[in-house]
Amino acid sequence: MKTRFSEINLIKELSSPRYQNLHRHFVPKTFANKALMFGPRHDDNLVYLVERGNVRVYLAMEDREFTLSILNPGDIYATHTSAYNSAMGEVRILTMETMKFYSFLAEYPELSKIVIAVLGGILKQSFAIIDSLSFKDIRKRLAEFILFQSEGCLPDAGGAITVPLGMTMEQIAAIVGSTRQTVSTILNDMIREGVVQKTERGIFIIPNIRHLRNFE
Ligand code: HEM
Repeated sequence: MKTRFSEINLIKELSSPRYQNLHRHFVPKTFANKALMFGPRHDDNLVYLVERGNVRVYLAMEDREFTLSILNPGDIYATHTSAYNSAMGEVRILTMETMKFYSFLAEYPELSKIVIAVLGGILKQSFAIIDSLSFKDIRKRLAEFILFQSEGCLPDAGGAITVPLGMTMEQIAAIVGSTRQTVSTILNDMIREGVVQKTERGIFIIPNIRHLRNFE
C-alpha cells in the first residue's frame, strides 16, 4: 500500500470532537466488490471520502482502460469527473454534496491537502500514460516511415528488401516528430527483434516486411 502524502488520518480522527460538524454532514454509502460506483459525470455531484476498501479510478475508451488511481481509506474523490469509479472489495464511502464540501474547506484546510495529494497522484499517472501512448505512437510512425521508404525497392530472392534511407537520426526524428534519442532506442529495438537489420550507414534491410508492418 502506498504511503500517504498527507499526514492526517482522517478516518481515524473523524469521530473526534474537531470533526463533529463535518462528520454529521456525511452520508454513508456501501458498494459490493467490483460494483461500478460512479460513471463519468454521475448525476449527483458528490465529493466522497473512502472509509473502507479501495476504489479504482479509471478512464475507459473503446476496448481500453487506463487506471488513474487506486484510492485508499482516507482518500477523497468526486463524482463530477470523466473517470469511472469501481469498488475493489467491499467499499464504504462517506459522501457529501460538492458545494457543501467546498464550504467546509475553510474550516478544515487539511481536507485540501488530501485532495491535492490524490490529484497529484492522478496527474503523475496521467503523465506516465501520455508518455507511453506517445512512445507507442512513435514506434508505429517510425515503422510506417521505413515502410514508406521501402516502396519501390525490390525484394531479393529471399524476400528481403534493402532500403537506402540515407538520413541521419536527427532527420528521421524530425520526420516522425520525435527526438534523436527516442528514434535511436526504437531502431535498436527493431534490430534486436530482427524486424530490420542495419548494414552500413543509412542502409537498412527489411528481412520480412510483414514483421515490420506488425511492429508496435
Ligand atoms: C471542493 C469542492 C469542489 C468543487 C467546487 C469542484 C468543482 C469543479 C468544477 C467546476 C469542475 C469543472 C467541471 C466541468 O468541466 O464541467 C471540476 C472538475 C474536476 N474536479 Fe472538482 N470540485 C470539487 C472537488 C473535487 C474533488 C474533491 C476532486 C477529487 C479529489 C475533484 C476532481 C475533479 C476533477 C478530476 C475534475 C476534472 C473533470 C474531468 O474529468 O473533466 N474535484 N471540479
